[in-house]
Amino acid sequence: MPRQSESPYGESVHVELAHAKVNLGLKVLGTREDGYHDILSVFQSVTLADQLWFHLSDQARLSCSDPSLPTNADNLALKALSLFQNEVRDRASLPALHLHLEKSIPVGAGLGGGSSDAAATLRGLNTICGQPLDTPSLLSLAAVVGSDVPFCLLEGTALVSGRGERIEPLRWASARPFYFSLVFPEVFVSTKWAYDSLAPCLTTFSPYHRFISSLRGGRVDMTGLLEVIENDFQSVVERANPIVAELVSEFDRKGALCSSMTGTGSTAYGIFDDRIAALAVCDELKAAGHRSFFCELYCP
Ligand code: C5P
Repeated sequence: MPRQSESPYGESVHVELAHAKVNLGLKVLGTREDGYHDILSVFQSVTLADQLWFHLSDQARLSCSDPSLPTNADNLALKALSLFQNEVRDRASLPALHLHLEKSIPVGAGLGGGSSDAAATLRGLNTICGQPLDTPSLLSLAAVVGSDVPFCLLEGTALVSGRGERIEPLRWASARPFYFSLVFPEVFVSTKWAYDSLAPCLTTFSPYHRFISSLRGGRVDMTGLLEVIENDFQSVVERANPIVAELVSEFDRKGALCSSMTGTGSTAYGIFDDRIAALAVCDELKAAGHRSFFCELYCP
């Protein structure tokens, strides 16, 4: 059994976990002048995570356990590395590093895997260099890498708005545990396609809005939130991929407190207050040939 500091490439100088995120509701409020969209969403980190090892090397490079992922400048982790290097050039010396990424989070699945890998790269580099950048500076770099990267840098629970860069940390009002059963239907959704497929002038005042507006002191009642969850991308993705609707309904049939889709899809999820029930649904989905994951809330 390898030690945590040991990747398939041997001993590393540092290791980071990159947690997946689940959107507990996602409203698109409208288009912005920069071409992006303003959103409103409660983001929640979960225990499903990629692992990122940092090795000293003679040249900067990235390797990945998933051969389908690019390991060149198209990978968000290398984009984050290059931005960090430029930013700290005058303040810290960064050794040449070999980054190895062990993927567990499905790609193109709405779980923020690539964004979380990039965020873990920024956190790891800042630690290795002796913390030359403070959190606001890291958040600015994260926003350049991608819209979901600022949240992935902080992790936990947050109300996310703007393009993704406005983050208000939230706490659950009760310590009652909740369990997630995720299923990835092997449908790869392009974020750009999903936004482009939304009808313009999307939003009307909804129960989700009302609930979010009523949040006081950063505390959220999970049961109340689960009653009003809606994701504007769900019908678009379900229309193009009926399997997503089938899997969402499957969670309802199995007694989930709430079922939905995360981000721009295609991962469907069910939330349970019974750990055994959530595990049993994952097992059934796996037995039916699906990629399914049991996970819990992750709050650093
Ligand atoms: O920021 P990111 O690179 O993840 O965004 C990918 C694409 O998704 C953007 O090019 C844009 O088309 C769309 N997008 C958007 N509004 C957001 C986030 C993403 O329109 N808030």
